[in-house]
Amino acid sequence: MTADEFIVSKTDATGRLTYCNRIFIDYAGYSEHELLGHQHNIVRHPDMPRSVFHLLWTTLKSGNEFFGYVKNMSKDGSYYWVIANVTPSYADADADDAIVGYFSVRRKPDPAKVRIIETIYRDMLSAEKQAGSHDAIAAGTKVLMDIVNKTGKDYREFILSI
Ligand SMILES: Cc1cc2nc3c(=O)[nH]c(=O)nc-3n(C[C@H](O)[C@H](O)[C@H](O)COP(=O)(O)O)c2cc1C
Repeated sequence: MTADEFIVSKTDATGRLTYCNRIFIDYAGYSEHELLGHQHNIVRHPDMPRSVFHLLWTTLKSGNEFFGYVKNMSKDGSYYWVIANVTPSYADADADDAIVGYFSVRRKPDPAKVRIIETIYRDMLSAEKQAGSHDAIAAGTKVLMDIVNKTGKDYREFILSI
């Protein structure tokens, strides 16, 4: 991935893909036909903590934009890291309206920053596994927020300052 490439996708309100740009399709390694109409988790990598996606969805559903580092998996099993911005889309310009879908633009992250995130995600994932399915989200979120809170920043400021 080169620094000037933008990986773009759009989903409906349930997270089903409605648009992918050429770069998204190339990285994912699926045909456009295999992607459109399917859930965005088609590119989910098993190394990603569930609590990151929980934070993504709670942020979006409250009407806010989400920033995060995401490790994605291509059809052939290889992976690629992105720094993603995800936003809700509204039917109308005035944002009191219902969310009709979501929009995401991603870029290649700095490898040094990925190394920091990799360590955090590894600890989150292991806390999730240890806690068991029922308590996984709470356990993973606690690991992340303990790190974030120590910096005195909120999650968004923390992510953007790494
Ligand atoms: C616009 C948008 C973009 C998303 N981009 C990704 C992505 O690049 N990789 C990913 O694994 N999940 C992405 N997600 C989150 C997925 O919808 C899904 O929540 C996640 O893959 C975890 O899968 P699960 O919800 O089935 O556990 C995105 C969601 C939205 C709404």
